[in-house]
Amino acid sequence: MKVGDLASLAAVQGLGRPLLALFLALPCATALGQPAAGAGLRSGFDTMSAPTQAMQRDDAANPGMLTVSDGAKRWAQPEGNAQRTCAGCHGEASVSMKTAAARYPRWDERLNRPVGLSQRIALCRQRYQGLDAGLPDSAAQLALTTFVAHAARGVSLQPDTDPRLAPWRERGRARFDQRMGQLDLSCAACHDERAGLRLGGATIPQGHPNGYPLYRLEWQAVGSLQRRLRNCLTGVRAEVWPSDAIEYIELELHLTHRAAGLVIETPAVRP
Ligand code: HEC
Ligand code: HEC
Repeated sequence: MKVGDLASLAAVQGLGRPLLALFLALPCATALGQPAAGAGLRSGFDTMSAPTQAMQRDDAANPGMLTVSDGAKRWAQPEGNAQRTCAGCHGEASVSMKTAAARYPRWDERLNRPVGLSQRIALCRQRYQGLDAGLPDSAAQLALTTFVAHAARGVSLQPDTDPRLAPWRERGRARFDQRMGQLDLSCAACHDERAGLRLGGATIPQGHPNGYPLYRLEWQAVGSLQRRLRNCLTGVRAEVWPSDAIEYIELELHLTHRAAGLVIETPAVRP
């Protein structure tokens, strides 16, 4: 069984919330001798089943590669009334975008705040091409973000050190540690303290962003990091923020910081 909505997991399996509560009352992963963040970084790839790992490794079998190809076309082809294509300004992505994805979120001078990779691309579409920005999971945004992140596949996450990012990252860290939702759980309660433990059919990963956008078998589609975060928020029955909310970028700043050194896997495959 695939586990998406963690809260519905208990219901689907007829377990009820008391059992989920009991599970979460168990000693944390570290106490059980399981790997936890800090004790060694592990990509979500490491805890997947062998067939899912094989699907990610083999470009011919990885469904996310279709989205990369779609992005490659959009990179080179004119869209709408735009005068320049992405390639027209940036040239070969394999050269100009070789490490870009590894350093996001970064500061945007004009907005005077941090932006994620997807929004950075949306800004180019708006400012330099006069196009609609599109939401992170719109076809154009997803394809272009997947294509640009794929150009950096194998590159280690190296978060930007701009000091202006620090207070935003700090708010992201605080949010990661803060209990939320009807289940009153923090991100850290699962991804720091219980990483490696089983929750229903799923193994709780350390919760790293290094594979996004990625193909999720449960979605039957490629999705953004934001979509993944929305899944975890609904999982604990917390309110989901609107798609342009700064909360996602703040969390992403913290997530990339704690994942620094892991290599980009885009497009990863996840259950
Ligand atoms: C109740 C436990 C739980 C909580 C609380 C939780 N998550 Fe998750 N999270 C999971 C599980 C389980 C998965 C993997 C699901 C799967 O792939 O089947 C996951 C996946 C992820 C991933 C993707 C990892 C990968 O390798 O693709 C990220 C990133 C993530 N969570 C971040 C967060 C953040 C940020 C929060 C707080 C807003 C949060 N999670 C809250 C259980 C939780
Ligand atoms: C008219 C020229 C132009 C076009 C067209 C353009 N960009 Fe940009 N792009 C820029 C400039 C200039 C920057 C540097 C940031 C800035 O000044 O806004 C940039 C920055 C970026 C970055 C950040 C790179 C880094 O290392 O941080 C990415 C990613 C990017 N563009 C992707 C795209 C994509 C994808 C498209 C097509 C949808 C596109 N750009 C279209 C000019 C352009």
